[in-house]
Amino acid sequence: MQWEQVRLLDSVLEEIEKVCTVAATLWQRRWIERNGGNISLNLTAKLTELPESYDSFRYLPGDFPAGAAGMVLFVTGSGKRLRDLSGSVEGVACVARIDEGGNGCHILWGGHNEEGAFQPSSEFIAHVMIHLMKKTATDKHRAVLHVHPQELIALSHHPVIGRDERKLNHACWSMLPEIRLFVPRGIGLVPFMLPGSKDLATATARQLSLRDVVLWSKHGAVATGKDIGEAFDYIDVANKGAEIYLQCLSSGFVPEGMSDREMNGVMRLL
Ligand code: 13P
Ligand code: ZN
Repeated sequence: MQWEQVRLLDSVLEEIEKVCTVAATLWQRRWIERNGGNISLNLTAKLTELPESYDSFRYLPGDFPAGAAGMVLFVTGSGKRLRDLSGSVEGVACVARIDEGGNGCHILWGGHNEEGAFQPSSEFIAHVMIHLMKKTATDKHRAVLHVHPQELIALSHHPVIGRDERKLNHACWSMLPEIRLFVPRGIGLVPFMLPGSKDLATATARQLSLRDVVLWSKHGAVATGKDIGEAFDYIDVANKGAEIYLQCLSSGFVPEGMSDREMNGVMRLL
């Protein structure tokens, strides 16, 4: 069966192009091994000319929160390699619209199925819940990024810092002024939960209403931004703090870190 596909506006294609560019960087950083990581963009406000009927579009059943009805999202596919995004964006990702009852979604664009049926990311529910939370936030964040940055993950295995959000933030913030400045709301710590679970999605959306980055203990990180580049920046800067902290430990000393007074002084630069 040949399913119908919509045409995307240039402004939407530009946002998708940014995703492809960031994906190349993520691969170089080794944050998206195999099918690791997933990306979504909330396109609801940008896709204004929608079809009158969805009958000729592929339908995938799902269980979405009621408030998500009518949401249009670009999302990467489950099991897909994000490093392949720029070569084959319509095979690696899709644009999906959640139906009125929240019982599934129609694939409006992409999601091509050369090797088996395309399914949105196993973390789609987390992306949807984050976008729902961001709908009412003032920051206009429409991009969500989940990746596996090794230094933040390593720090989440630390027997003390990995269990204490306050100590985790102090460790990362105090490594250099920019981390306090550019991740001002800090890192939220979510204990290990089953990947793809509703519990993980709920905890993540709640934490991201307060924090710039969420660290899924022993798994990865999630951040949002106005576009994918901004979401990447939050994780990149937070991960730099983890990297320096671990580098000090592996050099044989516990880093002194900036003092609270020094960090408060840095915040006055804002
Ligand atoms: P997906 O391939 O289903 O997006 O899963 C990757 C991942 O990182 C799960 O947490
Ligand atoms: Zn993951």
